[in-house]
Amino acid sequence: MYKSIIRPFLFQISPERVHNLLFSGLKLYKHISPLRGAVKHENKGKFSIKLKEIPIKSRVGLAAGFDKGAESFDELADFGFGFIEVGTVTPNPQLGNPKPRMFRLVKDESIISRTGFNNPGVDVVLERIKMHPKRVYRLGVNINRDPSSTTSESIVNDFLLVFDKLYDAADYFTINWGSVDALDFEAVLKTLVTSRKDKSFYKKIVIKLPADITEETLLNVIIIARKFEADGFIATGPTMDRSNLICLSKAESERIGAGGVSGKGIGDKSKKIVKFLGDNVKGEFLIIGAGGVMTVHDAIDMMNYGADLVQIYSAFIFEGPKIVHDMNKAISR
Ligand SMILES: Cc1cc2nc3c(=O)[nH]c(=O)nc-3n(C[C@H](O)[C@H](O)[C@H](O)COP(=O)(O)O)c2cc1C
Repeated sequence: MYKSIIRPFLFQISPERVHNLLFSGLKLYKHISPLRGAVKHENKGKFSIKLKEIPIKSRVGLAAGFDKGAESFDELADFGFGFIEVGTVTPNPQLGNPKPRMFRLVKDESIISRTGFNNPGVDVVLERIKMHPKRVYRLGVNINRDPSSTTSESIVNDFLLVFDKLYDAADYFTINWGSVDALDFEAVLKTLVTSRKDKSFYKKIVIKLPADITEETLLNVIIIARKFEADGFIATGPTMDRSNLICLSKAESERIGAGGVSGKGIGDKSKKIVKFLGDNVKGEFLIIGAGGVMTVHDAIDMMNYGADLVQIYSAFIFEGPKIVHDMNKAISR
């Protein structure tokens, strides 16, 4: 029904408006108890999986950027996600880049985006997370600095401030490789790892890798992750390479302008990185396969290459909510 009736209607509207409409819909949905009960029932599961001491109910998660401001993660979890990553969250509220900043490429099943760090800031996010203390899913927060913080000291302080404020509220934290330079990244990781409060039950810290990372850089990141005791990797985020967007003309690509490619257009870049991680660090680090996981087959491929979990964004938009259930079912089989 999603692809034949709902999607054609939604795809007439600009991507960011659809996104806002979805969140308005979710705010209404949470008050319709019979409907919510039915959706939850359809996707219920047990905490039967244990990963690095974290009990988790399903291996499919929602990637960062979908619920940047932690507005509706609890409702989104009803669709069967075992973990949801909100953010990117910064210390202060951010408007992000000027609109339009999200472009839907229907034929290529991809999205080009340059949203930036639009989010309401850590204090608002904390209040919203606190409203849902009893969760049946794991909540991650993707964190970053304010764009105005450019010195090494202010960058580390920004990450630490967001981390400290959300420490008790979240289950894991993600920092994006490439969002600050390599030396600052090391300093951030070291600071966060050493400032974890409760040594008996660590909050996990995972590193999100870009799809265009070279093998040489990846080896360096693994060394840094080992040295400073990070817990895992998300492989990967978007790519800057548009060569897999076979239906996008050069003129259209230029009209859209800058932006990273998500969805099918990531091609097999993310799978190659997951395979590399699977071959080299499986068991040592948690591996979350992400980026271009559009179908049940993609999810299974990711698991076969070494992923412990998968994370989706574009598939939720192009395939609809049922994809979460379908991926879960196929993976657990
Ligand atoms: C519109 C949009 C906004 C995004 N915002 C963020 C973000 O704020 N932080 C982040 O780490 N990733 C962000 N991402 C990247 C996604 O988390 C994900 O890594 C990427 O879309 C690849 O997954 P997919 O192919 O399943 O979409 C965003 C992606 C899109 C399409």
